[in-house]
Amino acid sequence: MRIDVVSIFPAYLSSLGLSLVGRAARTGLLDLRVHDLRDWTDDRHRTVDDTPFGGGAGMVMRPDVWGAALDDVMRPGPGLPVDAHLLVPTPSGQPFTQRLAERLTDESHLVIACGRYEGIDARVAQHVGAQHPVTELSIGDYVLNGGEAAALVVVEAVVRLLPGVVGNPQSLVEESHGAAGLLEYPVYTKPPVWEGLEVPEVLLSGHHGRVARWRRDQALERTARRRPDLLAALDVAALDRADRALLAGLGWTVLGDRLVATGEGHAGEGPDPVR
Ligand SMILES: C[S@@+](CC[C@H](N)C(=O)[O-])C[C@H]1O[C@@H](n2cnc3c(N)ncnc32)[C@H](O)[C@@H]1O
Repeated sequence: MRIDVVSIFPAYLSSLGLSLVGRAARTGLLDLRVHDLRDWTDDRHRTVDDTPFGGGAGMVMRPDVWGAALDDVMRPGPGLPVDAHLLVPTPSGQPFTQRLAERLTDESHLVIACGRYEGIDARVAQHVGAQHPVTELSIGDYVLNGGEAAALVVVEAVVRLLPGVVGNPQSLVEESHGAAGLLEYPVYTKPPVWEGLEVPEVLLSGHHGRVARWRRDQALERTARRRPDLLAALDVAALDRADRALLAGLGWTVLGDRLVATGEGHAGEGPDPVR
C-alpha cells in the first residue's frame, strides 16, 4: 500500500517512522510519504490560507494550493496505482471506525489531506471527487487544531491490518471492535498476585474451554456496561445458549433478530470494576 500525507506540519508525522508502521515502511510493506503543503505555494510568504467568504472568525485553507498539491500527489505515474483514494479528516466527517479501517486496507493508494484553521475550502473535495473516491472522516466528536493527529490515527489503524505488519495475526482476531462485535475481555500477565490483586483463577487453570467461556462472558459483560450500542448492533445468530443466559442476567433479551435491553438486568449498576 502507498500512503501520502499532506500537511503544513510534516514534522508532526515523524512518529510514523516508529514502531510497527515504521518497520512496515522500512521493510517495504508500506510506501509512506509525507509532504509539506507549502511546497505548492508560489508566493514569498508561502501562504496556504485566506479569509472566509461570508465573514466569520478564522481562516480557510486555499483551494488553489490544495488543488495543485493533490493533483500532483494523486496523479497516476510510473509505479503508482491509478485509483488513489483521498481521505479528509474533519470533525464533520463520517465516524472513522474499525469497519472503515478494514475497508481501506483494500485500497492501494491512500492520500490524507490534513486541514488546519477552519478547514479546507469545500471545493477541493468536489474537485478531487470528480476523479477519485473521497472520504471525509472524523476520529471522534471533538475538535482538534489540525488533521495531523487524525492522520496518525488512520494510518496506524489501517496499516496494522495489512498482512505481515502485526507479528501474530491471531492477536487481531479477538480484539475490541473485531469480528465478534464486542469489546475485548480484560487481560493479565505475570505475576499472578500484584499489589494484593489476584489474576482470576480460571486463567491459571490451563483449561482452554473454561478460559474461552470466561473471556466470552467478560467481553459480553464489559460491552453491556460500557457500550450498549454495540450489543444492540450484534448479530444474534452468533449468540450461543450460554451467551443468551448471561445477557438475560444483564438485562438483554433477543427479540426477532435483535438484542434489546429489558431494563431488568444488573448491567450499568455500580462502578465499573475494570477501568
Ligand atoms: C479547528 S479544526 C476545523 C473545525 C471546523 N471549523 C469545524 O467546525 O468543523 C481544523 C482541522 O482539524 C482537523 N480535525 C479537527 N477535529 C477533527 C476530528 N474530530 N476528526 C478529524 N479531523 C479533525 C481537520 O483536519 C480540520 O480541518
